[in-house]
Amino acid sequence: MTTSSSINKDIVTAVSVTFGAAALGILFYKTYFNKSKCAKSKVNLDLKKDNPKVVDAFDIEDLGDKAVYCRCWRSKKFPFCDGAHAKHNQETGDNVGPLIIKRKEA
Ligand code: FES
Repeated sequence: MTTSSSINKDIVTAVSVTFGAAALGILFYKTYFNKSKCAKSKVNLDLKKDNPKVVDAFDIEDLGDKAVYCRCWRSKKFPFCDGAHAKHNQETGDNVGPLIIKRKEA
């Protein structure tokens, strides 16, 4: 009876330690690895990082006949496209391109 009780106590201890270690492992993974994965997926790598949100607004009357806006966030002339999306697409296999707004030809 004492031996059986001792074995049950050892099993409970082993199971508790195993689940505790598994829970700590999951917590460690979610804390450190998930955050770093999110950081790598940021779209904006270096534009206006001191602003909490990057917003650009233009009056339609000021656009002229055609305006080309960057959607890849790699342009040195952001928010306008400078063609940097081509290099980004070549390096990453992505397929982003600019937003082009133009007046209808009369
Ligand atoms: S440079 Fe970003 S879309 Fe062209």
